[in-house]
Formats: sequence, C-alpha cells, structure tokens
Amino acid sequence: MEKKNIVAGNWKMNKTQKDAEEFIKNLAPLIKSCRSSVYIAPSFTALSQSLDAAKETNIIIGAQNMHDETDGAFTGEISGIMLKTLGVEFVILGHSERRHIFNEDNSFINRKVIRALKDGLEPILCIGETQKERSENKTEEVLEEQFCASLKGISKEDAQNIIVAYEPVWAIGTGKTATSEIAEHVHLFIRKLILKHFDKEIAKNMHILYGGSVKPNNVEELMQQENIDGVLVGGASLDYKIFAEIVNKA
Ligand code: 13P
Repeated sequence: MEKKNIVAGNWKMNKTQKDAEEFIKNLAPLIKSCRSSVYIAPSFTALSQSLDAAKETNIIIGAQNMHDETDGAFTGEISGIMLKTLGVEFVILGHSERRHIFNEDNSFINRKVIRALKDGLEPILCIGETQKERSENKTEEVLEEQFCASLKGISKEDAQNIIVAYEPVWAIGTGKTATSEIAEHVHLFIRKLILKHFDKEIAKNMHILYGGSVKPNNVEELMQQENIDGVLVGGASLDYKIFAEIVNKA
C-alpha cells in the first residue's frame, strides 16, 4: 500500500463547538480530492460536533491530549477510552506545550502512549529541542532521549500504529520554520532511531511529520524532502482557506 502523507491541524485552545462545525463544513469540499490524509485535533469540548461534521468526509478527528489512567480521581482529565468511545481516532501526545507549560515528562508521556495504543487510538508523539538545546549542539541527544523514553516498552506490533512529529520548540508559533535542510537532517536522524529501536519495515512505514510555523508558502518545499511524511500545523490550521491550501499543496 502506498504511504500517504498526513496533514494534521492542531487547533490548540481555539474554537468553540460552532466554530469547529463551521470550519469542517467549509473545509470538506475544498479538500475532497487531496492526496493526503487530513487530521484535525479540536479541543475536547468541540470533539463531538467535529466528529458529526466530519462524517462522510475524508477528515479524521483526534484529540490534543489524554490521561494515562482509564478512570479515577483525576479532576479535569480525560481518558483514552472516553475519546475512543466518542469516535476519536488519534491523539497528540508529548506536545512541547504539554512538556514545557504543564511539566509533562517522558515517563508520563510513555504511559499515555501505551494507554492510547491499548485504547485503539493512534498516538502522534511529538518530540523537539529548544533553541538553547540546539545552540548547545544537543538536538540529537535530546531527540533520542525523548524518543526512547517516550516509546519505552512499545512492541514492534504497536509501533506500526504510531506517528512521530518533529516539532522544534524554537519554530512553534514563532514564524521561524526550520529550513527544509534542517528538517530533513533531523527527520533522517529520527528515521535511523526508528530503525535502531524497531526494524527496517517500521522505519520505512512510520510517518514522521514536521511541525513549526508550517504555512502555505513553505509546505511544498518541506514535503519534497525524502523523510518528511507530512506536517503538523498550529496557527495556520485555524483558517479553513489557509489550511485547505496547505492540504492541497502537500
Ligand atoms: P505553529 O504552526 O503555530 O508554529 O504550531 C505548531 C504546532 O505546535 C503544532 O502542533
């Protein structure tokens, strides 16, 4: 089967139920014949409307986070099984905003990845270095640590259902996209990590998405790189026309 690119939108803390529904209804006809798989991650509160609006379209709906336990005394949290039973298909885990603002560490993210797989959700595991780490030449060390610790104990069978997103923290929401050379260099490094950790088949098939200031004017060049299998878009996924342009160019 041919490997399709993935264009994913992460709406972060934006859009009410009504906004989400309108967005999806407007987007769907514009991307009907796109070549990529299209993923959108609304806020928890807009998931239900988004799922309804995305019925009979090629848009796949996911969540931006989940807890690693199934139920219990975790005020304010949402479990994988709650998402799965709602009809959600994927979940973003380890986003740098979760790591840096909400202090999530690799071991918590690892438990979430394991739980998401058990619950039948496709995890998009985000990894990425800060500006400081990059300037100290620690990019590869940081990525290897995040990758290995977040995927600890994951079997080869389960690894087939995981997507990795490389999101350099310095490129998120800053307008400073990694050049396609920098992104490709890191994606190749991640591809080799997958090979080392799992096997050749998984390394070949696993999607590695790039995220960080992806816009209509840089998506084509990024997508031309051999090891970039898609993009994870923040700010530019909030406007349906701009997001449609990205999807159709990818
Ligand atoms: P921006 O596209 O706004 O830089 O955000 C990227 C991101 O964090 C997607 O998860």
